[in-house]
Amino acid sequence: MGGYVPYSRITAILFRMVLKVWAYSGLVLVFCFLLYYMYGGIFAILLLFFAVTGILYQVQDSLLYYPELPSHSRVYVPIPPTFNLPYENVITRSADGVQIHIQKIDNENVPTIVFFHGNAGNMGHRLQNCVGLYHNLHCNILLVEYRGYGLSEGSPSEEGLYLDAKTAIDYLYTRSDINHSEIIVFGRSLGGAVAIDVAVREEYANKIWCLVVENTFTSIPDMAKLLLGWRMLQYFPLIFYKNKFLSNHKVKQLRVPTLFISGMADGLVPPRMMSELHNRCNSIRKQLLQIPSGTHNETWQIQGYYHSLAVFLQSCRLKNIRQEYDIKVGSEKVQGDSLWNNVQTI
Ligand SMILES: *[C@@H]1O[C@H](CO)[C@@H](O)[C@H](O)[C@H]1NC(C)=O
Ligand SMILES: *[C@@H]1O[C@H](CO)[C@@H](O)[C@H](O)[C@H]1NC(C)=O
Repeated sequence: MGGYVPYSRITAILFRMVLKVWAYSGLVLVFCFLLYYMYGGIFAILLLFFAVTGILYQVQDSLLYYPELPSHSRVYVPIPPTFNLPYENVITRSADGVQIHIQKIDNENVPTIVFFHGNAGNMGHRLQNCVGLYHNLHCNILLVEYRGYGLSEGSPSEEGLYLDAKTAIDYLYTRSDINHSEIIVFGRSLGGAVAIDVAVREEYANKIWCLVVENTFTSIPDMAKLLLGWRMLQYFPLIFYKNKFLSNHKVKQLRVPTLFISGMADGLVPPRMMSELHNRCNSIRKQLLQIPSGTHNETWQIQGYYHSLAVFLQSCRLKNIRQEYDIKVGSEKVQGDSLWNNVQTI
């Protein structure tokens, strides 16, 4: 009898323990289940997030670059003789080996405009504009077709476009028939961002006489916010943007004389972006030219456009910017010191 009670007590204790452990294991199981449920869900969400952002990251290129538009842009590039312009076809290689197609429209012993076009079509679609530049400004024009556009090889990317811009300027420096002291870098829309990038690079800033940008944006993240209208986008870190083109940061380092041409009727890039770029630009020789009826693609067709460009180039020619002087452009006289750091309209 003496031994029986402890046995039953032990059994009871053991039984309680098993019950407890079992209860705990139930809890553990519930915990495991919750863990799996929650973390499984989190993993699923993470995977989904990676997949979605991955896809979004990859499609960004096709949202930004339109080398196939209008159709046949990759096979047919209009040539300058169509517009009675003398030219040379140039095939060169970018630093990473990509073959780049350039058209050089020749004049003699005059400034050279390096022309960086927008995100659609090819350089041949800008020839009418080149006719105006050629006859009004009496300059050489170097039309650059970015990688993945027209007859250039490869596919477009932000770094690639920057490389191609440098390639174009390097090419000009291999030519002895070009006045290296008068290289004007011009960029419209996306080309403006390319032009700004090359103009702030120290080794190229010294090779450039002046910079002209037209209807270009502050940055791609800014354009994405504007075009998509998602408030959420402002919390997206930059790393999510495959193409950034952060002109708004770069203009602060600009030192070359710069003209910002802003079509006030631009329906794609808001004119306020051009004002912002002009405001942020740290070059002491800068000017904002606002053209009231200028649209995104056709600002160059407005009367007075080429004249304003000519005035700007004339003012760049004058070295001592603090001095008072009169500049003659055609029959008009312009006060020299009033040319910088201001806003003008046509
Ligand atoms: C500008 O021109 C390009 C190609 O020529 C075209 O795809 C685009 O839609 C035009 N943009 C505007 C705002 O007119
Ligand atoms: C090249 O441009 C510079 C600066 O405008 C000028 O002084 C020089 O005379 C030009 N050279 C030639 C060969 O025309």
